[in-house]
Amino acid sequence: ILLLFWTPYINGRTLETCPTGKACRSERPPVILIPGDLGNQLEAKLDKPSVVHYICYKKTDVYFTLWLNLELLVPVAIDCWIDNIRLIYNRTTRQTEAPPGVDVRVPGFGQTFPLEYLDPSKQGVGMYFFTIVQALVEWGYTRDDDVRGAPYDWRKAPNENKAYFLGLQQMIEDMAEKAGCPVVLMAHSMGNMYTLYFLNQQPQAWKDHYIKAFVSLGAPWAGVAKTLRVVATGDNNRIPVISSLKMRSQQRSAVSTTWLFPYAHSWPTDKVLIQTPTTNYTVKDYQRFFKDLDFEDGWEMRQDTEPLVSALEPPGVAIHCLYGSGVPTAEGFLYTSFPDTDPTTVLGDGDGTVNLLSAAQCRRWIGRQTQPVHMLELEGNEHVNMLLNFTTVAYIKKVLFGP
Ligand SMILES: *[C@@H]1O[C@H](CO)[C@@H](O)[C@H](O)[C@H]1NC(C)=O
Ligand SMILES: *[C@@H]1O[C@H](CO)[C@@H](O)[C@H](O)[C@H]1NC(C)=O
Ligand SMILES: *[C@@H]1O[C@H](CO)[C@@H](O)[C@H](O)[C@H]1NC(C)=O
Repeated sequence: ILLLFWTPYINGRTLETCPTGKACRSERPPVILIPGDLGNQLEAKLDKPSVVHYICYKKTDVYFTLWLNLELLVPVAIDCWIDNIRLIYNRTTRQTEAPPGVDVRVPGFGQTFPLEYLDPSKQGVGMYFFTIVQALVEWGYTRDDDVRGAPYDWRKAPNENKAYFLGLQQMIEDMAEKAGCPVVLMAHSMGNMYTLYFLNQQPQAWKDHYIKAFVSLGAPWAGVAKTLRVVATGDNNRIPVISSLKMRSQQRSAVSTTWLFPYAHSWPTDKVLIQTPTTNYTVKDYQRFFKDLDFEDGWEMRQDTEPLVSALEPPGVAIHCLYGSGVPTAEGFLYTSFPDTDPTTVLGDGDGTVNLLSAAQCRRWIGRQTQPVHMLELEGNEHVNMLLNFTTVAYIKKVLFGP
């Protein structure tokens, strides 16, 4: 299995150290925001040998917004979009590639705009971290200075985002040195898996020096049952005019989707995730699941990414886990015709996306690291809406300015 690690290092320059929990030279600990799956803008530039439909652009002079631009997600235009945003998996290199002539980039690393609003036109539909950033600004923070964003290519798992982690490390060190105190990392959804992966690679001395706390919002520590349906049939939840099956080809090509399949370390092995007239699939049956879907690259992708954080090693920093519950959340799917017709969803507890079982895995770190582990269940909070909830924002204020 090809894992790309980088060598963490402790910056040679000495920091005016103020250990975790102590006051900063600045009045505020710097904050870095790490978004989830689909959680920041992506841009593309095209110079393609061919297109799937005559209305599709073959060549563009500049980068345009690939995610999120609702104008691209309408019938016919969506075929062009899928052909641009999809990835192609190479079994030899065990890496994904963009289709020929498609150049995708992540805009605004170090800035907050790519994750405050997913849609640059700032239509309410794409509002994401805006409420939290705006609250921070009201408490004295400055956008792109002491509150910054760390967007990434969320189609990929950490094994294909090596440069991202180097950039994140550098940003943490720069912000800590400027403020004279350690940084607060704040992640949502899959961003928590990225953050855990990053922290697991860093020496303890580095973390003690540079990280004040990790605020974890809606983390899928043990995966998400909904991903199985996404891979089997597609999921058009966000864009109802488009058929699920159409979305499926794009969704299957994103390695991060299979990375987020439920993990056997937490899911009961007798729990049926997918039931079809002939077969029951549990967390132990993924190889067969991919084979039956005729999507065997999916099994390869899962093997590449499963070990990245499956040990759930403690983060080794003070962590605050906030997660929603009490919202009906898919925990299984019943198919009468597998996989091409929409299944019946079996609902359980969670935040509407992340199963409670998965979010609550944070508790396994209590007593397993010297740093504190705080958990706050937010009854009635939906996965994305928890970012807008007053209780969440008030808690964040306490972490930033509390003793
Ligand atoms: C996969 O990568 C290898 C090595 O770079 C290359 O030789 C091969 O052509 C690639 N396969 C496909 C299907 O692109
Ligand atoms: C699948 O599991 C259900 C119960 O969860 C059971 O009733 C059914 O018979 C099983 N089907 C197969 C094919 O094993
Ligand atoms: C915010 O979260 C709290 C705590 O879970 C909940 O009681 C409240 O209803 C939520 N408010 C809104 C507007 O969703």
